[in-house]
Amino acid sequence: MINIALDGPSGSGKSTIAKALSNKLGILYLDTGAMYRACALKAHYLGIDCKNEEQVNSIIDLIDIKVKYQDGTQHTYLDGNDVSKEIRQNEISMKASDISAHKKIREKLVSLQREIAQNTDCVLDGRDIGTFVLPFAKFKFYITASVEERTNRRYKELIERGQTVDYDTLKAEIEKRDYNDSHREIAPLRQADDAILLDTSFMTPDEVINTVLSYVNK
Ligand code: DC
Repeated sequence: MINIALDGPSGSGKSTIAKALSNKLGILYLDTGAMYRACALKAHYLGIDCKNEEQVNSIIDLIDIKVKYQDGTQHTYLDGNDVSKEIRQNEISMKASDISAHKKIREKLVSLQREIAQNTDCVLDGRDIGTFVLPFAKFKFYITASVEERTNRRYKELIERGQTVDYDTLKAEIEKRDYNDSHREIAPLRQADDAILLDTSFMTPDEVINTVLSYVNK
């Protein structure tokens, strides 16, 4: 199997790169963040506090998440419903970061991710793919960018989607999420020792994609 792991903080451009790679190489793109987002959405619907591990554990068995592919695009399903749009709401981002700190949630999603990756050539993006989910992945990249650049990108994306956001609040949220994701006890965000580091702050998406492809095609 060819597995390409793309890890890095929010807004670093991982999903853009992953989508392009998946198209160019004709392999699947698994967006693992979407799975944590779907868990957070379930908790949100049930009025569960995503920070509270006990409350989160009480709903684990009620969480039914599936990923399906339609025309090569991932659709994330929660309880049989396509929630691909709902999980992108800005308020779900922080909740996903909070819920992802808990052990049982991670165990549930990591086993699903490994199951998919074991049977399919794919590019996966997330926080712990190269360090924990697939430590033996053939290719590993750690994609990052300055917090200012990442905020600019996220801001543009949310505005384009018609959501109202305040720039400074968004930047503070991204910094908080960076802190959360890299300081949690289980599988925190960090660059794997054998991952290639790409700082995309001053790179166009095409430059990043071509750089990644130059390693993969070697
Ligand atoms: O990539 P994203 O912004 O959609 O991810 C949402 C949250 O999910 C992120 O803040 C941390 C968590 N996450 C994780 O812990 N591990 C992953 N492999 C992917 C996402």
